Amino acid sequence: MATMVSPSLLAADFTNLRGEIEMINRSEADWLHMDIMDGVFVPNISFGFPVLEAVAGICQKPLDVHFMTVHPEVYIEPTAKLGAMMMNIHYEACTHLHRTVHAIHQACMKAGVSLNPSSPVSMLEDIICDVDMVLLMSVNPGFGGQRFIEGTIGKIRRLRELIASSGSHALIEVDGGVQSETAPRLVSAGVDILVSGSYVFKAPDPVATIHSLKSLHP
Ligand code: DX5
Ligand code: ZN
Repeated sequence: MATMVSPSLLAADFTNLRGEIEMINRSEADWLHMDIMDGVFVPNISFGFPVLEAVAGICQKPLDVHFMTVHPEVYIEPTAKLGAMMMNIHYEACTHLHRTVHAIHQACMKAGVSLNPSSPVSMLEDIICDVDMVLLMSVNPGFGGQRFIEGTIGKIRRLRELIASSGSHALIEVDGGVQSETAPRLVSAGVDILVSGSYVFKAPDPVATIHSLKSLHP
């Protein structure tokens, strides 16, 4: 399978949101990653539903929405309404993860569970067969442009083993510090989807940068 790419809108030029989405539409990006932050689960606030709605109206790529919020279950219905493909929620933010994952499926979206850098993969043993994707954070969530945490490489390998031994079909997505040096190593370690914010949106030629990430093979 070719590497999939989900550019993170957090690094976009918000004074030219339409232009940025048009760039995504004509690129080889597979999905568009959108980061929702509440200033509680993470020490930052990004954008909310008015922006999500505006983007959903013009974006031709499936939306991969990453909730860095407490009580993510509250947002299932509005997220489904705007036609999101994937709803990612944090393990650390969700007390009743099993119930929430099934509620996301009931709302006709795919369910992703996200792990902070300090949360071990073994925590997913009893949910791995219920989720469509695991989003491994390779930086502490809340900000773009941070440095990649090396321990993520070993974590991907352990997650690959857990997926294989459990018979799960979950995809592996990595988010944070994905650029030209880290991306090939992530793909070799077994990642399916690369999220990339600043490396894509701040590049002189974002379409070519997305192409270069898509061309990586294990
Ligand atoms: C961080 C967000 C990321 C962020 C990645 O909390 O979840 O999606 O946009 O940004 P880069 O690729 O710049 O590390
Ligand atoms: Zn993200």
